[in-house]
Amino acid sequence: MPAQVISGTQIAAEIREELKERVKKLNEKGVTPTLAVVLVGEDPASISYVTAKAKGAEEIGMHEETIRLPADTPEEEVIRTVDKLNEDPKFHGILVQLPLPKHVSTEKVINYISPEKDVDAFHPINVGKLLRGERCPLPCTPHGVQELLIRSGNDPAGKHVVICGRSNIVGKPLAAILIQKKQGANATVTICHTGTKDIASFSKQADIVVAAMGAPKALTADMVKDGAVVIDVGVNRVEDKTREKGFRLVGDVDFDAVKEKASAITPVPGGVGPMTVTMLLMNTVEAAEIKAGMTG
Ligand code: GUN
Repeated sequence: MPAQVISGTQIAAEIREELKERVKKLNEKGVTPTLAVVLVGEDPASISYVTAKAKGAEEIGMHEETIRLPADTPEEEVIRTVDKLNEDPKFHGILVQLPLPKHVSTEKVINYISPEKDVDAFHPINVGKLLRGERCPLPCTPHGVQELLIRSGNDPAGKHVVICGRSNIVGKPLAAILIQKKQGANATVTICHTGTKDIASFSKQADIVVAAMGAPKALTADMVKDGAVVIDVGVNRVEDKTREKGFRLVGDVDFDAVKEKASAITPVPGGVGPMTVTMLLMNTVEAAEIKAGMTG
């Protein structure tokens, strides 16, 4: 039987309704959650992500400001921009869109973001807190994957989750979230990567497979067991002359073949993507609530 297709668009919309209510409560206290997005350069994919973040923020009643810097902005200038945003009490969240131009150190810039305003949860203090199971903002894409699993009735507790990909943005933090002894986590986690000898031998044992390799259709049907839940984190632009933009988006999963074997699967687009933006909005609302003393 073909898989249940998990709609990230629908689940994200549900969460955004919940966030609207939280924003209203903040408004009653005279607070408007405000996000600063720093975009260096003109990378088309980055521009499209930043646009989605700005639109999502406005839709739930938040404010968003995009600070656009030219691609040749010196590193010190990017850091000065972050510093100003740290000092400005108007902003509850700061996000520096990645990738940065080669002459700007990602680590250095991220380290400058105040951990309280780090809504991407990339700062080493937040990464450390996550690993230790302490309260902290959760990184957006992995948190989005966790919410998708829980809200689609596929709680990872007690399941074997195989994550394909070990990036700092997805693979590693997703493993850190799912191994915690907490509700909606408590999974057994295996991470596969480019150094893994036979990825299929691991992925075939998984109750839940997360594809985050960054390569189109890299997870094929022979790599998953019958009835597995498959989450596709990939966003790859492939040339398609029949489309107005000249490309279409495909994930890291061979969707048409894998959906015949899986019990549930996320599509691309409309799966993890909308969840990432939603979790960013959630982190910004939460940062505003913490600052206003509205959380326990
Ligand atoms: N570029 C691709 N994904 C992300 C993300 O989650 N956050 C930021 N800041 N940049 C990205």
